Order: sequence, then structure tokens, then C-alpha cells
Amino acid sequence: MTTSARAAICRGNSEPFKIEDVELDNLRPDELRIRVVACGVCHTDMAVRDEQLPVPHPVVLGHEGAGIVEEVGSAVTVAKPGDRVVMSFNSCGECPSCSIDAPTYCYNFFPHNWSGKRADGSPVMFKDGEPMNANFFGQSSFATHAIAHEANTVKIAESAADIPLERIAPIGCGLMTGAGAVLRSMKVRKGMPIAVFGAGTVGMAAIMAAKIAGANPIIAVDVNDKRLELAKELGATHAFNGKDGAMDKIRELVPQGLGYAFDTTGINTLIQEAWGLLAPMGICGIVGASDPSDNLTFNEAEFMGGGRRVMGILGGDSDVGPFLNELLDYHVKGQFPFEKLIGYFDFDQINEAIHASEDGSVVKPVLRISAE
Ligand SMILES: NC(=O)c1ccc[n+]([C@@H]2O[C@H](COP(=O)([O-])OP(=O)(O)OC[C@H]3O[C@@H](n4cnc5c(N)ncnc54)[C@H](O)[C@@H]3O)[C@@H](O)[C@H]2O)c1
Ligand SMILES: [Zn+2]
Ligand SMILES: [Zn+2]
Repeated sequence: MTTSARAAICRGNSEPFKIEDVELDNLRPDELRIRVVACGVCHTDMAVRDEQLPVPHPVVLGHEGAGIVEEVGSAVTVAKPGDRVVMSFNSCGECPSCSIDAPTYCYNFFPHNWSGKRADGSPVMFKDGEPMNANFFGQSSFATHAIAHEANTVKIAESAADIPLERIAPIGCGLMTGAGAVLRSMKVRKGMPIAVFGAGTVGMAAIMAAKIAGANPIIAVDVNDKRLELAKELGATHAFNGKDGAMDKIRELVPQGLGYAFDTTGINTLIQEAWGLLAPMGICGIVGASDPSDNLTFNEAEFMGGGRRVMGILGGDSDVGPFLNELLDYHVKGQFPFEKLIGYFDFDQINEAIHASEDGSVVKPVLRISAE
């Protein structure tokens, strides 16, 4: 028997998201049905709305969901009915990346996250008896209920039992990416200088993680002064406005060069300048979405001579369950205070929440979908 749900349907950028009745398919052995309590709003949702990513429309988006497990398939071991869980991206579990616990680089990322269906092509959702595109990041959590998978569901550890799900919801995307970039991908060393370009969700998470790693100085660069103030609260030792000679100020502050330059803006001219600030063995980590036609140019002698690296990063090299619970541990200890980024909206205010993200007034909007 299918399950009735309400879901926000995206039909492109010419009309607002509309909450409508849908049906969820029966569970496969490795699937879980989650009652969604809350879901974060992320730029990737808007990128799909604007058809910048190859996800078919109309579609149910939302990929930062948290909730309570209602039912599980026969092969599920990650959680049981009644458990509090948070969802992240999906992966195949079998390819060369998944087999070394690097699922963010899954060879089969597209069919498991962006095809609008299960990887085998079957629909997880129906509307008026017809298949509806969903299974976005293996969840589609802009809905009262979601079908998730063994690979992208994380049972929340007992140590985080007091943290509300509506706060935990966004941890599986941008927060994980920024923190993982620092702690896992670039493995930032204690006492080394880092600059973070762009102080949104990803950059702020990187700044909090840089503080955890003991980096020094921690330089935040943004064009929004309010965000720079918050970056300082979260651990930045210096904050420079990108419109006001930030690169020169960094050069003056760290004459021997940066150990790490982390870009979340995706602006190629900025990345090239930031790369030019690296010390020998310095790493320039890049995560920001960019135009598919953009290229980067670096001087070959400087690239080789100093052992400098450019590192493309997806999902902060997270292995999902262990890393998300590690981040929640830091949160419980007060070292990862990401609640300062969140603004809450009711589910039926989804279009207002998206607007608040796009105009920069809220760093991380979170939709309240049902009571915990
Ligand atoms: N690679 C991954 O795994 C991954 C995961 C999540 C998000 N992302 C991408 O990372 C990027 C950042 O995500 P976010 O949620 O933090 O976005 P965001 O929009 O909240 O943050 C970007 C910040 O960059 C600032 N900015 C813009 N132009 C600038 C400039 N010239 N100099 C300095 N700062 C500037 C903006 O003011 C903003 O604060 C997005 O492109 C997103 O799609 C990548
Ligand atoms: Zn996201
Ligand atoms: Zn894989």
C-alpha cells in the first residue's frame, strides 16, 4: 500500500513551489520511510529549480531533511521505527570510491541522487497515479514523508538526544561540506594560516572547523559586512571585505603565505588570486558552484615549484554516518555552534524561506514540517 503525503512541487523558476498531495511507493528492502520534521533550504535546490543541474521537472526537492523513522525495509540495519535520523546524499555502496568510504565521489552519484527516480529507474513518488520526480539526493524532504536509503540515513547518537531535529536537519549538506573540507579533505594543521572566501553556510562551517583544528590566523572574506561580523563570532580572527583590498590585506597579514585558501564563491578570478597567496605546500580547496564554461589558469612553475595544490572537494569527503555524528559531538560541546546560522520558517512559507536565502538575509533557512 502506498503512503499519502504532502510535498512541495517545483515546476521551474517561473512559478512558486506549491504544496500538493502525493503518494509514496512501497519500500524496497534497503529503504526507510521517514516522517520529515524539518528540512534545510540550500542553493542546490534553487540551482535545480533554475535548471542549472540536470534534474528532471516537475520535481520534489529538499535534501537536508531530519525526522523520525516510520517503517523500514527488510534489509535495513542503520535505524528502526521510532529512531531520530538525519538524511544526507545517497551513494551506490559498490563503486571504487564507495568501497574506500569516499561516497561523496560515488561513480554512480547521478542515478542515486539526481535522476528523479530510484537508480533502477522506478518511481518513488506518484501524483494522481502518475510518477512524480523525487528521490532528490535520495530523499526529497520538502515533504511530510520521504523515502530514504540505508546509505544516506544517519541515526542520531544518544549523546545528541537533546538537540532538536529542526536544528540538526541542515547538517548533512553545506555544514558537512565546509567542516569536512577543513577537517578531512585539506586536513588543516594546527597553527597554520587559512583564508575562507565566502561566509555562507559552507564558509561559516569551515571557519568553525578551522577553529577546532587550531588554525591561525583564520581569515574570513565576504562582501557582506553582517556575515563578516558573524564569521568573527564563530572563530574568524580577521574579517576582510572582498570589495576593499582583501587580497592585499591577507598578503600583509601573512607575508609567508597561506597554508590553506578555501573558496566557496566559485568565482574563477577570485580562486586564481587566492591561489597566488599560497605558501609552499599550500592547498587551495574549491567547492563553489561555477559556470560549466569557466576555467582556471595557474603558472606552471609556481604550481610545481612550491608543491602547491588545487583540490576539488565534494561533500567535505564525508563518510556520512561517522562524520555527521562527529560534528554533532562538536555541537554538543559548543564547538560547532551552527544554530547561529539558522532562521526558521513554516512549511507553507517555503517560498519566503527560499527568498530569504537568495537575498542573503538568512544564512540557513530551515522549514518546520511536523512536530518532533
Ligand atoms: N562542493 C560541494 O560539495 C558543495 C556542497 C554544498 C554547497 N556547495 C556550493 O558551495 C557554494 C557556497 O554555498 P553556501 O551555501 O555557503 O552559499 P552562500 O551563498 O550562502 O555563500 C556564499 C557567500 O559568498 C559571498 N560572496 C559572493 N561574492 C563574493 C566575493 N566576490 N568575495 C567574497 N565573498 C563573496 C556571498 O556574500 C555569500 O555570503 C555554493 O556555490 C554551493 O552550491 C558545494
Ligand atoms: Zn545542499
Ligand atoms: Zn558508489
